[in-house]
Amino acid sequence: MDSIINFAHRGASAVCPENTMAAFARSLELGATGIETDVQLTRDGRLVLIHDETLSRTTNGSGWVKDHDLEELRKLDAGSWFHPDFAEERLPLLEELLELVQDTGTVVNIELKNTKVPYAGLEEKVIDLVRSYNLSGRIVISSFNHYSLRLCKQLAPEIRTGILYMEGLYEPWEYARSVEADALHAYHFAVLPEFVAGAKAAGKVYHPWTVNEEEEMRRLIDAGAAGIITDYPDKLAALLSASVR
Ligand code: G3P
Ligand code: MG
Repeated sequence: MDSIINFAHRGASAVCPENTMAAFARSLELGATGIETDVQLTRDGRLVLIHDETLSRTTNGSGWVKDHDLEELRKLDAGSWFHPDFAEERLPLLEELLELVQDTGTVVNIELKNTKVPYAGLEEKVIDLVRSYNLSGRIVISSFNHYSLRLCKQLAPEIRTGILYMEGLYEPWEYARSVEADALHAYHFAVLPEFVAGAKAAGKVYHPWTVNEEEEMRRLIDAGAAGIITDYPDKLAALLSASVR
């Protein structure tokens, strides 16, 4: 069996503020072999890692990410909302995450957050950066915006892409084929063994999200998922090491 990628969702987001360098570094200590993160564009065109299009939930700022330059955003506290111990955390740049993983085997799932805000040039910027770090082989670009994923594949055939979706697709692997995507990033309840088998036959893989219960992790391992996206990489690492013993 190929080893299943243990993707830490927004880093180790159960024990650290999501999408911070602390969360990414901790996830590697906890056994993650992949990191999922969310990317948005600042007003001055920088790739910043934050889940929401707006600042108020996970920083002490307010308003839209797209309406601020990086210099202003870097002054924000991106950790205190989670716990005062993380008050020094800043919004990371994608390049900082790529630097962190550069000398490891970690796979990075870069989710383009471009459904609500149609960030012009986001795809090109992400691809240029990934290529500049020579990391194309260790990246999966995902998005709920499948036009954007198709564009990524046209711009960079060597970088894997994954369609994000919730549920209800008929023969999802056929849809993935039409988008020229390599992977299916489905809400975990939508992942049935027969779908995984259909995907495998079409040369596609499943990376379900966000899987936090051990029983569901086990079900998806048995179903043949190629990777699992979780807030608890430690739980998944323990299960995976038990299953290869
Ligand atoms: O990439 C999986 C998952 O992160 C998609 O949803 O809202 O957590 O970015 P969300
Ligand atoms: Mg995400």
